[in-house]
Amino acid sequence: MRQVTINQIANAFIPAREITDAKLFAGREAQVKDAYYALNTDGANIAIVGGRGIGKSSLARQIINIGQGNNEILDKLNIYHDAKLDYLTIYLACGNNIKTIDDLLRRLITTKECLLDWIYDIASARKELGKFQSGLDIGVLKIGGDDSVEKTSIPSISSHEIDVIFQNIISEILKAKITKNGILIVVDEFDQIDDPSGFAKLLKSLATNTPGLKFCIVGVAQDIQYLMKEHGSTDRLFAGSVINLPSMSNPELTEIIRNAENSINDHIKFDDTATNKLIDLANGHPYIVHLIGKQALRTAYLEPRHELDENFITDTLNEIAEKEADPVLEGRYKKAVASSYQREGVLKSLVEVIQKDGEILTSDAYKVAIDYDIDNPSQYVGHLVSDEYGAELIKVRDRYYRFKDSLFTTYVKARPWLTSKK
Ligand SMILES: Nc1ncnc2c1ncn2[C@@H]1O[C@H](COP(=O)(O)OP(=O)(O)OP(=O)(O)O)[C@@H](O)[C@H]1O
Ligand SMILES: [Mg+2]
Repeated sequence: MRQVTINQIANAFIPAREITDAKLFAGREAQVKDAYYALNTDGANIAIVGGRGIGKSSLARQIINIGQGNNEILDKLNIYHDAKLDYLTIYLACGNNIKTIDDLLRRLITTKECLLDWIYDIASARKELGKFQSGLDIGVLKIGGDDSVEKTSIPSISSHEIDVIFQNIISEILKAKITKNGILIVVDEFDQIDDPSGFAKLLKSLATNTPGLKFCIVGVAQDIQYLMKEHGSTDRLFAGSVINLPSMSNPELTEIIRNAENSINDHIKFDDTATNKLIDLANGHPYIVHLIGKQALRTAYLEPRHELDENFITDTLNEIAEKEADPVLEGRYKKAVASSYQREGVLKSLVEVIQKDGEILTSDAYKVAIDYDIDNPSQYVGHLVSDEYGAELIKVRDRYYRFKDSLFTTYVKARPWLTSKK
């Protein structure tokens, strides 16, 4: 057995990061193929939609790689290709300070990681940016003692022009022909934009005026209308290039485990029972495989242990809960349960009876809840819908409910009980 470093162990699974390296990117052949064709389709924007933690950003990273002429993932998946693409690529993840499309455009043209360096390199684009910056300065200067009134007037001065200036800048960069295929802007976490209104209109205008620009928008949503909070003509703007990421299949999830073992020279291995257990717990979510896998390897390495079985995975689940390995999911769990055995029991009952379409019939859940000795489960269903307990559950119609997101339900299923029956 070859030596392995702690660094290798610590990075074999990466729950906190998306996959950039094609070698570690598992499965997703159909989606990568769609993405490659979309990249080759003139005038088509791309959208990646799907549930939380399903692999949207990782696919976006592969799109960027391909857009930059790195065809490693195409080769790995045996996807036929006949050219190296050459896009100027920009990646931007929307945080909570991008609330509108104006904010988004402003960020794209005023930060170094985005277009700013390119703009500085091209005199005509720099001139366009100058117009915007002087507009902004005038606005700022106007702020006097009582800035509450004046402040609201700043966005209206620049917002009127920001889309025009953005368009002009893009147009100037395209004219400079820095790259063969144009510009690809990936906007990740697009769902974080509170008010994305105006984006469809902007895309329409850009399609006519700057055909060399391609947007790839990425976010938690069930479809493109939902992501853009806009109905109607969004379809044509994404002409067949909406990639809806489904759950990962078992072979795809298995590949993640084998890749991780490979990266540590098989120093620690998951036997068949451990592999199956991990896949079962993940319920199609690559994130869960990474989360549990990382903790399992860490514990195994320190023990040391080289072959992990199903029981080892079960023990790992306790450690994940205790250490709050995912503080967000654990926090949501604790908020929903709030130290009540009864509410935890109802939460677990609901999750156990989720139907294929994601809906839950309350009578199914109540049958399970009775086995946990819970009286009056409907009262706790009411709690789980309320903000006080995190509003993880949503009422669909009479007697039917669904959970807000499947990553959370997967966590609820996997997490050991927090409370115990008195
Ligand atoms: N194809 C893949 N192969 C291996 N691991 C993957 C793959 N896709 C995603 N992952 C892993 O799954 C986890 C979630 O992936 P990613 O961050 O891409 O998902 P996401 O949908 O963007 O999540 P979020 O909704 O939180 O933004 C990460 O740990 C990532 O490394
Ligand atoms: Mg993401």
